[in-house]
Amino acid sequence: MREELLPIAEELLRKEAESVCARYQVSVEEALAALTEAFAAAPEVARRVRQRHGREDVSRWRDFREVVRRCRKSIYYGLRRYYARSGEVERLVEEFGQEAAGPAEPRRMEELRLALLGAHKSSCERLPHYAEFYERFFALAGSPATLLDVGCGMHPLSYPFTGRGSATGLYVAFDRDPRAIRAVEAYAWVVGKGRLVGVRGGLSDAGWTQGLPGPAVWDMVLMLKVVPVLSRLDRAAVARLAAVPGRSVLVTGSAQAMTRRQSIEARERTVLKAFIAQTGRRVAGEFRAGDEFGYLLA
Ligand SMILES: C[S@@+](CC[C@H](N)C(=O)[O-])C[C@H]1O[C@@H](n2cnc3c(N)ncnc32)[C@H](O)[C@@H]1O
Repeated sequence: MREELLPIAEELLRKEAESVCARYQVSVEEALAALTEAFAAAPEVARRVRQRHGREDVSRWRDFREVVRRCRKSIYYGLRRYYARSGEVERLVEEFGQEAAGPAEPRRMEELRLALLGAHKSSCERLPHYAEFYERFFALAGSPATLLDVGCGMHPLSYPFTGRGSATGLYVAFDRDPRAIRAVEAYAWVVGKGRLVGVRGGLSDAGWTQGLPGPAVWDMVLMLKVVPVLSRLDRAAVARLAAVPGRSVLVTGSAQAMTRRQSIEARERTVLKAFIAQTGRRVAGEFRAGDEFGYLLA
């Protein structure tokens, strides 16, 4: 951005942006944009900063620090959300649904599928590693005929239904998020109705498995990055999750925090191990793809 369009001197913004992105999972450009907006929204502070910068250390002023603090807070809460831009997700889901229901244009469908995978934080983190993910997945899982994906997010849009997953006749995707389920339902038009089924519901509802279409025992149950989230919120729901009937279960966590630049692998491993003990299952294999790790339980 041109210097004269910035609310305060670029060097001040840049110094704060570097400090923000040393701590949080954002680029310098993203931090710069957020700080520029924050100072533009505080025109009186920005005006005095422009007047006094160079003559005193304005970055130590209380009101300057307050603008930065509020900006850091909003970056932090933004990173904690599954969707960085929820309005855009709505639009993508809408278009995905319209394309799928009409005479779908394959290239546009593919663009939208990738955009939706990229819009959800969990599948976005996996995007550069999906080849590795499925390599390891099929090595562990074989050819599951029935799959239940619990807290699925947008992940079902990545499943290779026409490739190595062609033996999968039923993939049920469960989540409380209406956008994820609408995207899954739209994708089901492409995959083949009845083969991919989206079910919206909450894991805190004690009877959530009762309404699911599918077998009494699933070939494979996916719990990708969901157990650590649920463990913080609802222990009873975790206990019920541990009892979901599956021949095998793939349970994973993240090695990297969603917000700060720090490893959370040890913490997530502890949570997953406690969960595994609750299931009473044995670990049949270890899983790793990019920053995601986990266990195949039998
Ligand atoms: C960390 S994301 C993982 C998404 C997906 N499994 C993946 O790895 O790409 C957790 C998902 O679980 C869903 N979720 C969290 N709590 C839930 C609950 N109580 N009931 C149903 N879904 C829930 C969220 O909507 C979100 O899509």
